[in-house]
Amino acid sequence: MEIAVLSDIHGNHVALETCLKYLKDRDIDSYCFLGDYTGEFPGIEQTMKMLYDLRDNKQCYFLRGNKEDYQLDELGNDYPQWDDYPSTIGILRYARKHLTDKDMEFFKSLPIALTVKNEGFPDIVICHGSPRKINEKLAINTQSLNDVVSETNADYIICGHTHRKMETMCGATHVWNPGSVGASIDIPYSYKFMILHGCNGEWQPEFISLKADTEQLVLELQSAGLFETAPYWTRFTELMVTGKCGEYTHGSMLNRAMDICHEMHGECNWPMVPEECYARAFSEILNNSF
Ligand SMILES: [Fe+2]
Repeated sequence: MEIAVLSDIHGNHVALETCLKYLKDRDIDSYCFLGDYTGEFPGIEQTMKMLYDLRDNKQCYFLRGNKEDYQLDELGNDYPQWDDYPSTIGILRYARKHLTDKDMEFFKSLPIALTVKNEGFPDIVICHGSPRKINEKLAINTQSLNDVVSETNADYIICGHTHRKMETMCGATHVWNPGSVGASIDIPYSYKFMILHGCNGEWQPEFISLKADTEQLVLELQSAGLFETAPYWTRFTELMVTGKCGEYTHGSMLNRAMDICHEMHGECNWPMVPEECYARAFSEILNNSF
């Protein structure tokens, strides 16, 4: 029994295609997708098509991620009052324009967690953030991980969302995160996912990391116009895939830009984060200074 687990594709169809090609030769029984199908990359249609095609031929489990929630909550809609904030809202608007009604219905149908059952093997709870909250970030040795494990009562919990590979035990529970297919923040940047091998009534994890086609990814961002649609967000994506972002993440850039906005204007309400604040945050990242 072999189960592939893939999380956080973020519209990176180049990454997804590479991972699925690799898995084709590995005799996989079922596939788990932990959510966040759209995000920093422009390959929305290609990503959704690959997922639907796979679903037609293999047993697949799909979860909803916070990116799907953003679209269901209409954050990608063209509200004119947000026109001046492309680095915050541009990627969401781009994704919305490339999602179909079928995609939106699909997202709406997805759970945030479910239990994968296989005869003769322990149950596996899969989730995007955590079983209780779509955007909870589970990390090693934290109170939230302890709480989630005691609330969930499972031998195996597999989560995504942090874009960071994780392999830990919390009490008697195995907690794993495969990392991110499309937007990994593990260094060096690569396409990450995992295979669960069922043997002797247990699950053994195999973490897989495939080399990224960085040049192709940057070309994809350019030809989709994302450097104009979401300027600083996409400039950071370029840093991420080229291995130049250090320990910074999109989230840390956003937080810094919002702090700068607070300093300058006394308040900051997402998504209304001025471009000048992103400009400063981005240049601080380049200088490694916050
Ligand atoms: Fe996420």
